[in-house]
Amino acid sequence: MPKWGKHMTKKRHLITVNGISDDDVAFLLKRAAEFRALNRQPDKKHPSLKGRTLLNVFFENSTRTRTSFELAGKRLGMDVINMSVGSSSISKGETLKDTAETLSAMQADAMVVRHDKAGSAQLFAEFTDSHIINAGDGAHQHPSQALLDGFTLLQHYGTQNLKGKKVVICGDILHSRVARSVIPLFKRLGAEVSVVAPKTLTPIDISNWNVPHSTTMDEGLKDVDVIYLLRLQRERMAGCFIPSLDEYFSLYCLTPRRLKLAKDDAVVMHPGPINRGVEIDTYLADNREICRILEQVEAGVAIRQAILEWVLGS
Ligand code: NCD
Repeated sequence: MPKWGKHMTKKRHLITVNGISDDDVAFLLKRAAEFRALNRQPDKKHPSLKGRTLLNVFFENSTRTRTSFELAGKRLGMDVINMSVGSSSISKGETLKDTAETLSAMQADAMVVRHDKAGSAQLFAEFTDSHIINAGDGAHQHPSQALLDGFTLLQHYGTQNLKGKKVVICGDILHSRVARSVIPLFKRLGAEVSVVAPKTLTPIDISNWNVPHSTTMDEGLKDVDVIYLLRLQRERMAGCFIPSLDEYFSLYCLTPRRLKLAKDDAVVMHPGPINRGVEIDTYLADNREICRILEQVEAGVAIRQAILEWVLGS
């Protein structure tokens, strides 16, 4: 029988937002600010993890997360391998546990794991000697996304916390690991967080989340500082959750008219990839004054450098 938990106490991992202490959050945000400044210089190298090995193990598609972990590792001097899962032995019937142990036997110091099943990153942490960073497990958690989003907002406001800021998370809350990660982190940073979603995309246990929720944009967007949009996670939908994309667009797309319901200086965030004309109006998506989306992407590299240093204890 496999021995669960044999490795868990020895190593530092990043699996969930709630698994990081307030002090560690503060440290990561501070360190990310230093990396962001360094990343704006011509020479971006800070080889504090020279000689260490990072494996990017992505069983689901990714543009931003995988590339930013790769860049983060390389800028810290690590050897980075991107594993392509289509060509891995999973497709030959190998179990996730065996894959995890196999990769760990190659002395990978850290592994960044993305998988469509909740609990996969935890399983890697249980069965390997590597430091594991969860880059998204099913609809469960995506902690580095929450950290980079918290960082983006603190940089935008030039503050140490988000006290007094109202953030609304809009869209497919039900299938979103991003919602389950940013909500607790934004709350810890002091923000007032609420959600807007159609009833069919609102989790059944939403009352346990301790966030006000509504089903209309007109109600949910009133006087907010930050509108955080989510993509419809169609790859996680078994069946039909919305009558049609046109109807979703007409009821939940962020349009210039709906934006006016928020505060005058409100900003828009999105973890990407955006679906223009579904959750966000295409002209609005190109408005760099209002949309912080590319700032989020820039923050992603810096926060992942901070995370790699933190898990590897450098
Ligand atoms: C998010 C994800 O994968 O959960 N994207 C990301 O990491 N940038 C959100 C999404 O895919 O919609």
